[in-house]
Amino acid sequence: MIEQINRTAEYIKSRISDIPQIAIILGTGLGALVDHIEDKQFIPYTDIPNFPVSTVEGHSGNLIFGNLGSKRVMAMQGRFHYYEGYDMKQVTFPIRVMKALGIQTLFVSNAAGGMNPTFKIGDIMLITDHINLFPEHPLRGKNYNELGDRFPDMSEAYSRELIKTAQDIAEEKNIRIVLGVYVGTQGPTFETPAEYRYFHRIGGDAVGMSTVPEVIVARHSGMSVFAVSVITDLGVEGIVEKVSHEEVQKAAQQAQPRMMEIMRELVNRFNS
Ligand code: HPA
Repeated sequence: MIEQINRTAEYIKSRISDIPQIAIILGTGLGALVDHIEDKQFIPYTDIPNFPVSTVEGHSGNLIFGNLGSKRVMAMQGRFHYYEGYDMKQVTFPIRVMKALGIQTLFVSNAAGGMNPTFKIGDIMLITDHINLFPEHPLRGKNYNELGDRFPDMSEAYSRELIKTAQDIAEEKNIRIVLGVYVGTQGPTFETPAEYRYFHRIGGDAVGMSTVPEVIVARHSGMSVFAVSVITDLGVEGIVEKVSHEEVQKAAQQAQPRMMEIMRELVNRFNS
C-alpha cells in the first residue's frame, strides 16, 4: 500500500509545478468552485496510476491544480463513494496521496438530508462532528505506523479553528449557516422515515453517503479537516417527503454560490 501511495504521489509531482497547500473534495454543490481556480491544470483520474475511476453521473473525475485566491490548491472533481462498490481503501486512497504530496489541510463538501427540525432546504451546515455508520472501517487491517496511529484520536475530527473562521466569514457576509453532526451511511437508498428519526435521536443533524471515510483517513494522517453539507432535503419527523437525486442536485445548485463564497474566503484567510 505504501508503495502504491508513493508511486501515485511521485507521478502527480512529475506533472505539477508547485505542491498545493490545501486539498478540496468538491462534492455536490461545490462543483462550480473549479471556475474560480486560476492557472488550472487537470489530471484525469484515468491517467493516474492506482487511482480508482469515478462512475457517478455528474462527477467527471479529475484532479485540478491551480490557484484559488492567494493559495495553491488541489481539487478533486469527483469522489469515490462506498455505494459505487469501491472498498474503503479505494474510497480513501486519494487522501493518502494528498498527505504523501505534503498537503496538511483538507476541505470537504457534500449534500445531506437534514434531520434537525430547525434546518431548511438550501441551508449550509458546518460539520462539527460525525457518527460513522458505514459497515466497513477505512482503517481496518494492518496499521502502517508511518501513515498514522493504530488507534487515532477523534476528539477534534473537524478543526474548531476553521469552523470559527467560517462562522466569522458567514456573519460578515450575512450568509445563514447552521452547525451540526453528520451521520455517514452507506446508501444508496435515502432513509426511511424511521431511519431519519433514528439518526436524529442518536445525535445526528444531517445524513449523507460520503465524507466520513475520507475524514477518518485524513485525521489518521494528521491532516486538519473542514467540512460542509448542503441540506438538500429534509428527513424531519412528520414532514419526510419523497427524495430524488434530481431534487438533491437542484437544492445543491441553489446553495452553491453561498457555499462557494465561504470556501473561497476560508481558503484566502488560511495561513500555515
Ligand atoms: N440521505 C442520505 N444522503 C443524502 C440525503 C439524504 O436524505 N440527501 C442528500 N444525500
